[in-house]
Amino acid sequence: MALIMAMLSESAASTDQAYRGVDCAGRVGPLQTDRWGYEDAAMTDDKRGTRRPSDSSNPSKASDVSESSSPVHVRFDAFELDEINARLMRDGQPLPVAPTPFALLCALARQSGSLITKGELLDAVWGHRYVSDSVLKTAISELRTALSDDARHPRYIETVSRRGYRFIGSARATPHAQSVAAEDTTIGRGLIGRADALSHLQNAWTLATAGKRTILWVAGDPGVGKTTLVDHFIAHLRDVSIGRGQCVEQYGDGEPYLPILDALGELCRADPTVCELLRAVAPLWLLQLPWLTTAEERETLRRELAGARPDRMPRELGEFFDRYTEQRPLVLVTEDLHWSDHATIQLMDYIARRRGRSRLMWLATFRLAEVVAHDHPLKAVRNELRLHRLSDEVVLDPFSVEEVAA
Ligand SMILES: Nc1ncnc2c1ncn2[C@@H]1O[C@H](COP(=O)(O)OP(=O)(O)OP(=O)(O)O)[C@@H](O)[C@H]1O
Ligand SMILES: [Mg+2]
Repeated sequence: MALIMAMLSESAASTDQAYRGVDCAGRVGPLQTDRWGYEDAAMTDDKRGTRRPSDSSNPSKASDVSESSSPVHVRFDAFELDEINARLMRDGQPLPVAPTPFALLCALARQSGSLITKGELLDAVWGHRYVSDSVLKTAISELRTALSDDARHPRYIETVSRRGYRFIGSARATPHAQSVAAEDTTIGRGLIGRADALSHLQNAWTLATAGKRTILWVAGDPGVGKTTLVDHFIAHLRDVSIGRGQCVEQYGDGEPYLPILDALGELCRADPTVCELLRAVAPLWLLQLPWLTTAEERETLRRELAGARPDRMPRELGEFFDRYTEQRPLVLVTEDLHWSDHATIQLMDYIARRRGRSRLMWLATFRLAEVVAHDHPLKAVRNELRLHRLSDEVVLDPFSVEEVAA
């Protein structure tokens, strides 16, 4: 927390009070939008008020574009577009493209050859928020520059007058390195037992994907198979984003939110829209991940966040989870919570108690004996949440003789 306070006090000293969001007292300032038209989340707490209507002219396709989740990996001419690794390359060299135009290109290439209306693109890339067509125009123009494409004689992105855009490059699909690797992991092979635990996780996942925010502890002795179970479970999920973070034994207070920051970093690398959404609704979190922003962006963030207190980080992240999972379910894995910092435990408590719909499943492993025996902060939070049925739990027993013999 000290680190966060230090970063913020630097900004609090700034005389530029450009940031006028919801302050710590809950006062709401005028709306602002960033370069890509995201409303700053701190400037409106009412997400219903920021929903932009989907394009009604083509309702069936609108859901296709925004909900289609298979990552794009295609080649066209000298270009290679690799969505999972967030890379656009030309002749094998990475091209600098900002996350929003990149996401736009992925949305277009995902339906190569088809008209995608402006409304569909705004929904797919800007996530159902009120933004004007001009942000789309700007992003298209950036993309054309990156692709050296000409609007009047397009080779890749064609404008369909007053309606939208079409990707017209001759895209060839490329097998994705990560999916190939996933088939080859050891996770899928030789899992002993755990049928009940897996079916418990599966049932919880069904509820989570239907919108029931789920906090699920996987507890047991050291080496009993907590990580193996979680790995096996998530390796078989499809159409989901996954962020993982590891707690490590810390001496002293340790870095607040370490496993969450790791997981967010992983999510940002896999999905460029995560970074944009953090910028919009969870800027204090983005500030903790400096390698995802330029020095200039960080300076702007610091100015905007002058006076913002780290206490609001749980609320920011809750909003991030709710909004992100409107488009895609999310599994957050936090390993070895018995070593967690206090802030992460408090965050879990807050997230579990949040109301409303969210397609989030938070899986957290911990060594049961360490939490029960020592007066770990997780002990009280776990008891409270279980009492109010706000969390679920799988406790793993050591293997039976039959299971090992099988
Ligand atoms: N169901 C299983 N089938 C086969 N091997 C297993 C199973 N569960 C665990 N193992 C093996 O046991 C070892 C320890 O498992 P794992 O790392 O998952 O335990 P853990 O409970 O996460 O331990 P820790 O408390 O140290 O985090 C690993 O080598 C793993 O491959
Ligand atoms: Mg483990």
